[in-house]
Amino acid sequence: MVSERAAQVLVASNRGPVSYTLQEDGTLAAKRGGGGLVSGLSAIGSDADSLWVCAALGDGDREAVRRGTGTAGVRMLDIDAGVHADAYNGIANSVLWFVHHMLYQTPLEPAFDAEFRRQWAAYETYNRAFADALAAEAAPGAAVLVQDYHLCLVPGMLRELRPDLRIGHFTHTPWAPVDYFRLLPDDIARQLLRGLLGADRVAFLTRRWADAFAACAVDVLGADALDGTAVGVHGLGADADFLRERAHQEDVNEWMVRLRERVGDGRRTVVRVDRTELSKNIVRGLLAYRQLLADRPEWRGQVVHIAFAYPSRQDLEVYRAYTAAVRRLADEINAEYGTDDWLPVLMELDDDFGRSLAAYRMADVALVNPIRDGMNLVAKEVPVVSDAGCALVLSREAGAYEELGADALVVNPYDVTATAAALHEALTMDPAERSQRTKRLAAASTALPPTAWFLDQLAALRQA
Ligand code: G6P
Repeated sequence: MVSERAAQVLVASNRGPVSYTLQEDGTLAAKRGGGGLVSGLSAIGSDADSLWVCAALGDGDREAVRRGTGTAGVRMLDIDAGVHADAYNGIANSVLWFVHHMLYQTPLEPAFDAEFRRQWAAYETYNRAFADALAAEAAPGAAVLVQDYHLCLVPGMLRELRPDLRIGHFTHTPWAPVDYFRLLPDDIARQLLRGLLGADRVAFLTRRWADAFAACAVDVLGADALDGTAVGVHGLGADADFLRERAHQEDVNEWMVRLRERVGDGRRTVVRVDRTELSKNIVRGLLAYRQLLADRPEWRGQVVHIAFAYPSRQDLEVYRAYTAAVRRLADEINAEYGTDDWLPVLMELDDDFGRSLAAYRMADVALVNPIRDGMNLVAKEVPVVSDAGCALVLSREAGAYEELGADALVVNPYDVTATAAALHEALTMDPAERSQRTKRLAAASTALPPTAWFLDQLAALRQA
């Protein structure tokens, strides 16, 4: 059954643009999220009939669905909480995220056993719920943009239900190289690829991830695997107007004063801001900073490492353990080198966007050293808002490297010694050169604003 409010443009993602919390007085408070998709979708204008299909994530969301407290243009799916947990934590975050970011410690893991098969069945159920909802809501010939590794099976399922639709899929993570992708059981690898290839067009953040996907498809499914599906690349840039305006609001100015006080006058700053993902490589970043202090005593008392590591996916034990390891190492460095008036590592673990922007503005060096990252928007945001220019130490494994590598100090993220050397080089970079590089980095970072990222995909999908 096609619903009466049939939409012309549909977006599907696990996490939606809004979330609800149940207040003490029993009412529901709605909170709007940000990000590239939100600003991208807003670019098609309110008169276009668009719909965002997402999952209810917490109790507040589920209650909102039950009460029918909708947000215009958003449909939340109240998928059974156990099914969602198995699909999201079990498969998406613990298997697909690990494969594409190459995070397994392979002597012991992965071990694809009966428990994995049980969770995989939940992943299918969860994808099926999205495909059914999209099939019911889409107008004839509508464009559907499915997002990310949570929803790999949706394009194939939806294609069967609604052959008339234009279906696109976008992957925001890296894609694994063939040998690593082959860790997956053969039937699962085939199912994942066939699910995605149900789309008219699949797209990635960089050429490197798109090529890796195409190589996997051909290796697993055969030479004609890509017949009928276009493979595109759409880099996502920073939202310059939003950032420049937001970075000069009052709370950010106040944070700058407070941070400067805690850092101490005249001291340099090495700044990093991440969600505490296993892929962000925060531990090796701290090891590199410790090595800098060990090898170059001249920096002791002269530099502060501001490290904001915000909570992520804390339902998973491995994430909690990683967060604890990050905190422990920061404490060790502070105990080893700190003095009465100098704290070498200033770490915060609670999320505050205004404080992050303050750190961006005052950074002398930004450290972005992920093990592997689809794009990494922090690398692009810092140069845009930097007050006095900032040297960027950037992992060659971040998607952003393709666009920013020329003006960054590029590191192998596993090489702690080389990262320490790059931090020294960044801290001693000539101010004129630093500011020239920052200007070029800011230009490259804003070349692909979120609205263009979205509209280009939509146009390409309609032509595909
Ligand atoms: C990162 C990735 C996205 C992904 C998101 C999910 O931002 O780059 O590809 O969709 O994580 O995060 P969540 O908090 O919903 O697990």
